[in-house]
Amino acid sequence: MARPSNVSGFYKLPPEERLKIIKEAVGLSNEEADLLRSTGGLKLDAANRMIENVIGGITYPFAVATNFLINSRDYFVPMALEEPSVVAAASNAAGWTRGKGGFFTSNTGPVMIGQIQVVGVRDPFGAKMDILAAKDRVLDRANGVDPVLVKFGGGAKDVEVKVIDTVRGPMIVCELIVDCRDAMGANAVNSMAEIVAPMIEELSGGKVLLRIISNLATRRLVRAKAVFAKDAVGGEDVVDGVLDAFAFADADPYRCATHNKGIMNGVVAVALATGQDHRALEAGAHAYAARSGRYRSLSTWEKSGDGDLVGTLEMPMAVGLIGGATAVHPIAKIAVKILGVKTAVELAEVIGAVGLAQNVAALRALASEGIQKGHMKLHARNVATMAGATGDLVDKIAAKMVEEHMVRFDRAKQLVEELSRKP
Ligand code: MEV
Repeated sequence: MARPSNVSGFYKLPPEERLKIIKEAVGLSNEEADLLRSTGGLKLDAANRMIENVIGGITYPFAVATNFLINSRDYFVPMALEEPSVVAAASNAAGWTRGKGGFFTSNTGPVMIGQIQVVGVRDPFGAKMDILAAKDRVLDRANGVDPVLVKFGGGAKDVEVKVIDTVRGPMIVCELIVDCRDAMGANAVNSMAEIVAPMIEELSGGKVLLRIISNLATRRLVRAKAVFAKDAVGGEDVVDGVLDAFAFADADPYRCATHNKGIMNGVVAVALATGQDHRALEAGAHAYAARSGRYRSLSTWEKSGDGDLVGTLEMPMAVGLIGGATAVHPIAKIAVKILGVKTAVELAEVIGAVGLAQNVAALRALASEGIQKGHMKLHARNVATMAGATGDLVDKIAAKMVEEHMVRFDRAKQLVEELSRKP
């Protein structure tokens, strides 16, 4: 690198100035700088208000999955991601269940947990009782932070206290149970946890350290169920194959991480398109999968009396429609409009259905022809483009490489040379 990265006052500069520094430091071309500057639907100054040290934007493909029938309503589902096959797989799988009524979803409400860690308490169980006895006062104080949330029926609803054993001795964890309505809620919950902290210190006689939301959102679960007719998925053998694939995942964490990753392909893609905190969703999902002490599948797969495939999914889904990027990112706003969801819990349910669809699509492919066939077609097009193919040549070269089972950059380059030479 041409210069050290400790640029003093970088964060104070306007994006253009920062871009100039980076351009010079790493030798970006004018064209590359222009590409970074062209932030698509998100204006540079809006991006600059969202995070620090902005110099540009990165555009992900934005796609729409079709066929989703959820609780008898049709949805076009926006998805943003870089991986080929995911959108096609979700759309196909959503199609397989339409004949059986589509997805049936429900949720446990938009409720998050805010944790307040208390250390140095001499009598933790006694202190627990004192905090619980003052519950109403604690809730009042917390709700003072967000009167608008309270007006809409949300706010801090309950206080729970647990005593945990740690390597530093026993600690108290005071948990605020907060109904976040249509917000993801991290800001509201964190503010509430901070505001009640002095009260908790006074009540417990200890010292409050961390005051933060928990991403293990066990009170904000989404549930989805769908039946896939055996003929729609490819017959009895495929149904049995999916059951064996599920059994493998549920018994072996090495497989299960990949199995759940397949679910997250759909979850995160919709989350990204709609401007959600997808890291929170990832954290919550995997922690939930491990809640029994063993990492397990977020979904279950069974066979009905008719031999059809019955899938269910249950996982935390902390998403919001107000606040955060969803409210300010123009593309995220369009994504919400395409979906037509009116509440955060409706969005959560749609995402749950997409996760289940993504899972069955992957398991079906894995248990039959394997995923590379479908994957390779799209991957081959990317490789052909990288090798310099344009126009009709992209598809031609991609098809040839798939046929030869040789989807490689060097082969694509050869084919670009050969086929471009032809009259
Ligand atoms: C790839 O992104 C996702 C899969 O690996 C999921 C799975 O293995 O179930 C296909």
